[in-house]
Amino acid sequence: MKGRGMETRLSGKVLILTGAGGGIGRAVAEKLAGHGMKTVLLGGKNERKLDETRAAVEKCAPCLALPGDLTDPGFIASGVAEAVRTFGGIDVLINNAGAAQSTPFSKVSLAEFDRLMAINVRAPFCLTQACLEHLRRSAEPSIVNICSVVAHAGYPLQSIYAASKHALLGMTKSLAREYYEENIRVHAICPGGVYTDMVKLSRPDLGPEGMIMPEEIADIVEFLLLRRGSAVIDEILVHRVNKEPFLV
Ligand SMILES: NC(=O)c1ccc[n+]([C@@H]2O[C@H](COP(=O)([O-])OP(=O)(O)OC[C@H]3O[C@@H](n4cnc5c(N)ncnc54)[C@H](OP(=O)(O)O)[C@@H]3O)[C@@H](O)[C@H]2O)c1
Repeated sequence: MKGRGMETRLSGKVLILTGAGGGIGRAVAEKLAGHGMKTVLLGGKNERKLDETRAAVEKCAPCLALPGDLTDPGFIASGVAEAVRTFGGIDVLINNAGAAQSTPFSKVSLAEFDRLMAINVRAPFCLTQACLEHLRRSAEPSIVNICSVVAHAGYPLQSIYAASKHALLGMTKSLAREYYEENIRVHAICPGGVYTDMVKLSRPDLGPEGMIMPEEIADIVEFLLLRRGSAVIDEILVHRVNKEPFLV
């Protein structure tokens, strides 16, 4: 670790972040590292990309990278235990990892349905349950779930992705109220098209023009954590202007 960034209410707090190998997750990791958060990058199959994020975070904050499959509840349990062993607790959980879909409904296999639900809904469920007792001990605990505009809409070829994000948004809204009295803030961010691998791989014909940039989502995460107040902010919708939805 080299020098820390600015001293803020987030400095020294412990963050668990999923899906940090690229895209939104990496932008969030780098943004929060600037506050000196002790960061656990949990999950990801691409170890090289996760390691790149770890190296970027370590320029200003301590970081532990734990690659693995978040559809495996055993991996989640051991990852949370290792995070607590290493940094002594958990203050912030960000469920960002996710997988999209571009398949006619009639062609979606049961295995694909289960895979999407496991990464987009069951992993945040398992992680939130595993982190709860630790979040309760934090002075300012927060959970941020990265949903999507498809948590509100239904677009062709995205039926199961839409179902999974509707489910994640519903869970978020319930938890925002269920845990308010215990001081745990729970938020969802629902972006439209963000220029990440998720878009680049499925729509290589599209460029960054008019897209939301991952750093803009990271700025919103930072705002939610830094400007913690008494309001219930259960959801923030982030749209592209005057664009038809096309993917996520
Ligand atoms: N891009 C958009 O337009 C957009 C819009 C709205 C919402 N979102 C949401 O934003 C979140 C981040 O996506 P992104 O756009 O930044 O795309 P991305 O770069 O493809 O990031 C997705 C991340 O999820 C991880 N992941 C997927 N399945 C996993 C599994 N089984 N176990 C562990 N990690 C897994 C991936 O890691 P590995 O590849 O290393 O496994 C990757 O780091 C997702 O929840 C997505 O639904 C994206």
